Amino acid sequence: MKRAVSGVQPTNNLHLGNYLGAIKNWVELQDSYDSLYCIVDLHAITIKQDPKVLRQNVLNVAKTYLALGINPDKSTIFVQSHVPQHAELAWVLNTIAKLGELERMTQFKDKATQHKENINMGLFDYPVLMSADILLYDPEVVPVGEDQKQHVELTRDLAERFNSSYGKTFVVPEPLIKKEGARIMGLDDPSKKMSKSASSANNYVSLLDSPDIAAKKISKAVTDSGSTIESGKDKPALTNLLTIYSLLSGQSIKNIEKEYTGKGYADFKKGLANTVTEFLSDFQAKFNALDDNKVKAILEEGNKKARAIAEAKMTDVKTKMGLL
Ligand code: TYM
Repeated sequence: MKRAVSGVQPTNNLHLGNYLGAIKNWVELQDSYDSLYCIVDLHAITIKQDPKVLRQNVLNVAKTYLALGINPDKSTIFVQSHVPQHAELAWVLNTIAKLGELERMTQFKDKATQHKENINMGLFDYPVLMSADILLYDPEVVPVGEDQKQHVELTRDLAERFNSSYGKTFVVPEPLIKKEGARIMGLDDPSKKMSKSASSANNYVSLLDSPDIAAKKISKAVTDSGSTIESGKDKPALTNLLTIYSLLSGQSIKNIEKEYTGKGYADFKKGLANTVTEFLSDFQAKFNALDDNKVKAILEEGNKKARAIAEAKMTDVKTKMGLL
């Protein structure tokens, strides 16, 4: 079986962009790929975290994976900091990563602007740790949203560089980015991606927003000029809302456009709000029904499986490099 590897940072609550751009695709992949889905807590600490909140967020992300349909009988769900080889391989890859290529990473540039008071080495080195997360497991594909493409490309470069210096060690992975949903935009500003760290909560629908709040955010969402419900290059706001509608309802954008022919924005937003709140209610019922101890046991099992693969890969890496 081919392998898929991906991860999410346990910072704030996950939003519709995380689901539609990444986790929805993971759920589909788990039947045909040996899948490993990580909670990347070592990445989260590149921004200052409150320890109590972080601890809870790690558990919440695990619950989110499960409630969205990641099945622990099919996929391995694990916590990055519980597999020490992630940090170990990151160090090794640091010795072949170039300063210049890390300086070009747009996520680093964005975060360095957002967190001027804390531009730490971890923030700069973040993409190398992400490369280690991936390369330890030899996946063929890395299912992510569009914003992570540059990091997966760096991962490919590092894998090729290592392989050509020390002999074939790593599979060179492909990013797997679906066209629909790869970049869900902010509800309050369709020129920027939906983001957990947006300054206004009207930017995103969190998966844990109450249905009421979610419906309000949708009613406030920015729209384009004109009055017809249609997608297109000149209609970034409607295209985004139609994409969300389509992915959550399983209907094509064309069909939704047809359904709203002759109707206005108010009707459309009402329909979208219904679709979103139905999805959230179903998700939240599953999320709330999960027992903390059972979730911790699933993580422990996943950590063990991931460690076994990662240990073998690190042994190979060390042998190839001449580390005793
Ligand atoms: P993170 O935690 O920011 O986001 C998790 C996943 O959600 C996707 N995503 C989006 N997709 C569509 N529209 C959006 N507005 C949107 N916002 C976020 C992201 O592309 C991502 O797939 N560096 C990664 C985490 C990571 C990782 C890895 C991923 C660490 N190690 C190894 C894959 C493999 C990140 O910050 O994702």
